Amino acid sequence: MRSFAGRDILSLKGFERAEFEHVFEIADNLEPIARQRRNTDLLADKTLVTAFYQPSTRTRLAHEAAMHRLGGHVTGFSDAKMTRAGDFYQESIKDTVHMLEFYGDTIVMRHFQQGAPAEAAKWASVPVINAGDGWGEHPTQVLTDLYTITKETGSVDGKTIVCIGDHRMRTMHSIGYALSQFDAEMVILAPEEMSPTAEFLAELDEMGTTWRIVDHIDEVIAEADVLYMEPVVQPDYTASRQEKQDEYGRTPANYQVTREVMKKAPGSSIVLHSLPRMDELLPEVDSTKHARYWQEAYNGVVMRMALLALVMGATE
Ligand code: CP
Repeated sequence: MRSFAGRDILSLKGFERAEFEHVFEIADNLEPIARQRRNTDLLADKTLVTAFYQPSTRTRLAHEAAMHRLGGHVTGFSDAKMTRAGDFYQESIKDTVHMLEFYGDTIVMRHFQQGAPAEAAKWASVPVINAGDGWGEHPTQVLTDLYTITKETGSVDGKTIVCIGDHRMRTMHSIGYALSQFDAEMVILAPEEMSPTAEFLAELDEMGTTWRIVDHIDEVIAEADVLYMEPVVQPDYTASRQEKQDEYGRTPANYQVTREVMKKAPGSSIVLHSLPRMDELLPEVDSTKHARYWQEAYNGVVMRMALLALVMGATE
């Protein structure tokens, strides 16, 4: 297994089974710190730089919270418009990263351009973590999600994972790649205009991910071990920011999870949603035994603790 020290986390393509297991093990070791709401000194001599060119609640703050839990420092920006990358100068990724690498020991970047964190990693002498790049990938979210499935159900292996929503979405790409390392089936449920591309499906075939496509939640709900959700009513992820319009669509029943729908699911099935949500996942599901998205959000901090400790070499 490759060492994580000094390593970029850009994609789950090529992430090996042993690496997933190792990250999960480190997350397990560090979890009591988060559970007991303690701050430790594991990364006391390290600084994380956050470079967010697109809005975020969870990903940025979970990385920051993780850094605080490990005693580290945080600097950075959450609004690129207030930096030289977002004003008159439109400073390049290369020049920006040449600055940021002097300000800290790891850079976590969200960007509206697919491939921007990979571009940053070419120029940075410190690890770069992809916090979501356009429609590209969202590796730390999917590591969180697979960790949550493991904790909540015992294993990713043997599971039917129904991925509902916009399949142009970065999480859908990362989970498709990740599932190549597990004995699980990815069931794809998306509106036609949000379907996975032929190129992506070919990649899944090449990597060995088992997948099939269905058209309605009712076709698959009885066999769903995991409902893995994204909105179908959502902004353009290739834009730096998009305000909500007065008029916006509603989620068709095919892609909606309600209390009624969950009555047809196996008793042990769990619902994950990386959030934020629209009307594809109704709040009435929150109080069912199936909801695990708040646990998923908590695990988001634990997973970022593990990744930061690993890439900054505080743990092997
Ligand atoms: N799940 C997720 O990426 O949330 P944020 O956009 O709030 O970071």
